[in-house]
Amino acid sequence: MLLIANWKMNGSRDGLTLWARDLTPSPHTVVLCPPFPLLDHAMRCASLHFSVGGQDCHTEEAGAYTGSTSALLLREMGCGYVILGHSERRFFGETNVDVNKKAKTAMRAGIIPIICLGENRKERDEGAHLTYVADQVKECTKDLHGDYVIAYEPIWAIGTGKVCDGGAIAEMHSMIHALCPVPIVYGGSVNPENIDVIKTIPLVSGVLVGGASLDIDIFNKVMCG
Ligand code: PGA
Repeated sequence: MLLIANWKMNGSRDGLTLWARDLTPSPHTVVLCPPFPLLDHAMRCASLHFSVGGQDCHTEEAGAYTGSTSALLLREMGCGYVILGHSERRFFGETNVDVNKKAKTAMRAGIIPIICLGENRKERDEGAHLTYVADQVKECTKDLHGDYVIAYEPIWAIGTGKVCDGGAIAEMHSMIHALCPVPIVYGGSVNPENIDVIKTIPLVSGVLVGGASLDIDIFNKVMCG
């Protein structure tokens, strides 16, 4: 299983040191994605037990883009992965075309993109979720050649404690897999209570964990669940 710990804008150097010390060794691939200022420290703490990833990168390799981070610099710091198109970034206007450009830039830099997509409550209530996500998949992965991961994260399930039911996750992962046969992880309120069900769903290659990844005891339970 691929377990991605998305710390969002949380964490600290001391917290990261303890997180790395207490992470239970497992056969799973664990990717810690802390805020940018903690990446260097994360690399120093990273052991055989986990890899490190960024939470975003720019479409361009370098330039006058104040506040942005380049994929090349992420790679230079040792990142193997980068989360792209998270709904909390799309909120600021990021489009599928932007995500596609970022993914290409990341892949050129030797980083595996984790491309996030998922519907809002509105699309699901209207029964338009499959078409909506299919369009996202096609636009975000257009002309991508190489290794990448898709993270299906229904927006209404992120940070809300509401998890998509198993049948709905299976249906969506199967549709995505038919378009893009790559590893597909599920995200949205994953926790120690629901991981046992989620990990048995067909075509779920892993999970993207937000809130439940901050406390290492809880994350260990997700990982070993
Ligand atoms: P959550 O976040 O696990 O706190 O719902 C997941 C995510 O946004 O990646």
